[in-house]
Amino acid sequence: MNILVTGGAGYIGSHTCVALLEAGHTVIVADNLCNSSAETLERVKQITGREITFYQIDVTDAAATNTIFANHSIDGVIHFAGLKAVGESVEKPLVYYYNNIVSTMVLAQACLKYGVPRFVFSSSATVYGENQVPFVEDMPLLPSTNPYGESKAMSERILTDIAKANPDWSVALLRYFNPVGAHESGLIGEAPAGIPNNLMPYITQVAKGKLDKLRVFGNDYPTVDGTGVRDYIHVLDLAEGHVTALAKLTAGVHIYNLGTGHGVSVLQLVQAFKEANGLDLPYEIAARRPGDIAECYADASKAERDWGWTAKRNLVAMCRDAWRFEKSVSRGRFL
Ligand code: NAD
Ligand code: WQD
Repeated sequence: MNILVTGGAGYIGSHTCVALLEAGHTVIVADNLCNSSAETLERVKQITGREITFYQIDVTDAAATNTIFANHSIDGVIHFAGLKAVGESVEKPLVYYYNNIVSTMVLAQACLKYGVPRFVFSSSATVYGENQVPFVEDMPLLPSTNPYGESKAMSERILTDIAKANPDWSVALLRYFNPVGAHESGLIGEAPAGIPNNLMPYITQVAKGKLDKLRVFGNDYPTVDGTGVRDYIHVLDLAEGHVTALAKLTAGVHIYNLGTGHGVSVLQLVQAFKEANGLDLPYEIAARRPGDIAECYADASKAERDWGWTAKRNLVAMCRDAWRFEKSVSRGRFL
């Protein structure tokens, strides 16, 4: 299939390009490079030995986006392009709502105009809010405490309504848990700008000596050891979930969790990282981070039952691959 991957130069998008190319699909990337670099796409080509057609455009720009649909016979869209920093979304709500929602509407409109039957959307476990774990796809969503999460819930709603009105259209709403790790080549991975917000890149930067120690945000949660519990999933497992979604998608709206179904605490991840890589990792206990929930992990059984998809790579692989990539990033990030 010819697949348009928006945000294909980003962290999850680039790994998904690898998985798509390896599965034999043709990949067209649309990315404005606001949080990535074209160098990443060169590395995807290096890994796969395949070509990618790249458009440096903003997918909120309907004219530029429509040009891609006019130039290619597209069979499916995977919409990764979006802004994702929770804290920044509180500071700049309009920027987040505009970018994340308008991009979704522009792409949906182009799909309908050009008769593109498949749409796969990057949603997030954040839409479950403070529901009871494990999170199941048919739970009522709870309001987020931030515009980023709301932009995902609203995009889900918009796509659901459009699909209802266009019964031949196929939409997958994929709710990602916590993607970590990198391609085993060490060529592509997560290289956030500035001080990382997320745990794994923070850990790898402490291990490298770029940051002096990890601050563990709270050890008084009602969890196994008091620290926050999350469902970490290897980014390549997540990437392969998209290839499966494209293959299995039928008409209508289909919601799937992409997680492992296992909760891991902050201290358990620190321990796993130390053991996997034979390193020490200095940390201290700090105050809770505002907005954090105690536990977030998937009921991952629906994707397995319907699609035969499960995450295969374990915590050791996630820690080793994340560290291998961090060691290989000489300039800090590809920008
Ligand atoms: P990322 O920032 O690495 O990738 C996003 C890409 O989209 C970047 O290359 C950026 O340049 C591009 N982009 C952003 N806005 C654009 C626009 N208007 N037009 C064109 N390109 C644009 O982020 P990621 O971690 O790869 O996340 C991909 C998607 O998955 C996002 O939608 C994110 O919200 C969602 N998601 C991420 C996580 C996570 O923890 N990483 C979890 C759940 C959901
Ligand atoms: C994981 C755990 C922290 C950093 C965020 C978004 C979510 C999704 C994924 C896009 C928590 C703890 C973290 C640190 C720490 N993104 N932690 N010290 O918060 O589960 O999810 O990214 O959709 O929407 O909210 O991920 O990696 O930031 O935190 O102790 O320096 O690590 O408190 O328990 P989170 P995270």
